[in-house]
Amino acid sequence: MKFASAPAKAILLGEHAVVYGQPAIAVPVTQLRAKVTVEPGGEGVRLIARDLGHSHIVGEGSPPESLKPLVALVESTLDYLGGERPALTITVESAIPIARGLGSGAAVSVALVRGLAAHWERRLDPQEVSALVYEAERFHHGTPSGIDHTVIAYGRPIYFQRGQEPQFLRVGRPFLLAIADSGVESPTKAVVEEVRQARDREPRRYEALFKEIGALVQEAKKALEEGELDRLGHLMDRNHPLLRDLGVSSPSLDGLVRAAKKAGAIGAKLSGAGQGGCVIALVREENREEVASALRGEGAQMTIVTEVS
Ligand code: PMV
Repeated sequence: MKFASAPAKAILLGEHAVVYGQPAIAVPVTQLRAKVTVEPGGEGVRLIARDLGHSHIVGEGSPPESLKPLVALVESTLDYLGGERPALTITVESAIPIARGLGSGAAVSVALVRGLAAHWERRLDPQEVSALVYEAERFHHGTPSGIDHTVIAYGRPIYFQRGQEPQFLRVGRPFLLAIADSGVESPTKAVVEEVRQARDREPRRYEALFKEIGALVQEAKKALEEGELDRLGHLMDRNHPLLRDLGVSSPSLDGLVRAAKKAGAIGAKLSGAGQGGCVIALVREENREEVASALRGEGAQMTIVTEVS
């Protein structure tokens, strides 16, 4: 039996603007993971998605809607690995909440490709994994920038710009991020489409907002590399209202950001597509618990604190 996993991710700054060519920064969230086991045997290539409660034999009829991107990814990965279709049971499980901006779809996809490669005793490099997963992500997202599967496939903090090689960030000083799940599902594809329509109605205003966000990201890259955490927090604080101006915040996300700041977070903002999903807060060791508990007090369903280094 072979086993593979992949981490969740959080976008530190730059979501949405990254779809329109601006840079963004994303980090892996290592303690939340998607896991895949691949066992020989069974009938055909069977894919079992534990969390979705679905199972499907690849190549036999049409898969359930929610399994379609994964089944397509199994097919393309098997072709990439040589085209064989032996009897295999592939089981997918994920601890990453779905549709919360934590990259659950991309993490499951990356783990799936790695698990299949492991079955054939192959080690694919992150670039190969990334390329295979991009197709599946397009299905989840519509027009994904590619940041999710890139940070997850590499498992390192990245500075990402569409159409360019990712840059790996040297974190000047390790830092702590508190991540709070608002509990509200928000499918990325729908929010990205809403932003697209709003930008088509008001192109000048939206382009100006994207540019302003891109400038914050460039400053944040420097702050992160130089270990200037106060500066980084301040830039996150400035990113949040710009996301609100794009129309992707919500009263509950704004409330979580305020609660984190009041409890002493260095910076806080929504993370991912928005309208639901997660808020992230840059915290110090001394106040991590205080901020996490303030976030739960404000209604967060789950909080974790992760170290980025
Ligand atoms: O998957 P999410 O919710 O983290 O969103 C990805 C970030 C967006 O910028 C909103 C979309 C994209 O493709 O980059």
